[in-house]
Amino acid sequence: MISIIVAISEENAIGKQGGLLCHLPNDLKHFKTVTSGSTVIMGERTFLSLPINKTTGTHALPNRRNIVITDNKEHTFDGAEMAYSIEDAIKLAQENSQLSTLNSKLLYTLNSKLSTTKASEAFVIGGGMVYRQFMPLADKLYITHIHHSWKDADTFFPEIKESEWQLISTERQEADENNPYPHTFAVYTRRK
Ligand SMILES: NC(=O)c1ccc[n+]([C@@H]2O[C@H](COP(=O)([O-])OP(=O)(O)OC[C@H]3O[C@@H](n4cnc5c(N)ncnc54)[C@H](OP(=O)(O)O)[C@@H]3O)[C@@H](O)[C@H]2O)c1
Repeated sequence: MISIIVAISEENAIGKQGGLLCHLPNDLKHFKTVTSGSTVIMGERTFLSLPINKTTGTHALPNRRNIVITDNKEHTFDGAEMAYSIEDAIKLAQENSQLSTLNSKLLYTLNSKLSTTKASEAFVIGGGMVYRQFMPLADKLYITHIHHSWKDADTFFPEIKESEWQLISTERQEADENNPYPHTFAVYTRRK
């Protein structure tokens, strides 16, 4: 199953100047909880925007199988498997493990993590270009609706059409000293 996970503003914005719209620790925690143990699929720009993990020394998200989509066949990243098209990424995600291209230093860590991979759900984690291509293929959307607008946003998520997507759950969180904006965790499934 292909799922999309994203945090969007009131105007469906997702990013500005290569980064996220804001720092929302509550959403980062939610993202980690939902995606841990699964495969994550992302564009090269999103991968490079992730902070370098102190333990692995790479941008790869720990405890997840990382698939990075790029046009450039010369690009390889420690801790990530490379895909050169959307179809490639889906095929890779369907395979249970593909360790041949990984740096041996990371094999032990990733091997132990992959044994817990929830093979049935792959999460598309951005960015704008990749979300647009996966939107027609996705079965489920995990949307964090941030109840705020940004005038300087430059990357957007496609419209979530009510005719195509059914809202199945919502959980509202108020702003607090660590989370500057109220937000709602919503889950949608594709209408049959
Ligand atoms: N709010 C959120 O939840 C969220 C989540 C993730 C990202 N973001 C934000 O989104 C922004 C980044 O999005 P973006 O649209 O600029 O970039 P992106 O989607 O992360 O990556 C785009 C790159 O992916 C590769 N790519 C995409 N589709 C491809 C295909 N079909 N075949 C081959 N390669 C493909 C290309 O790499 P090459 O350059 O190698 O051709 C392309 O340049 C950032 O601001 C980031 O912070 C927000």
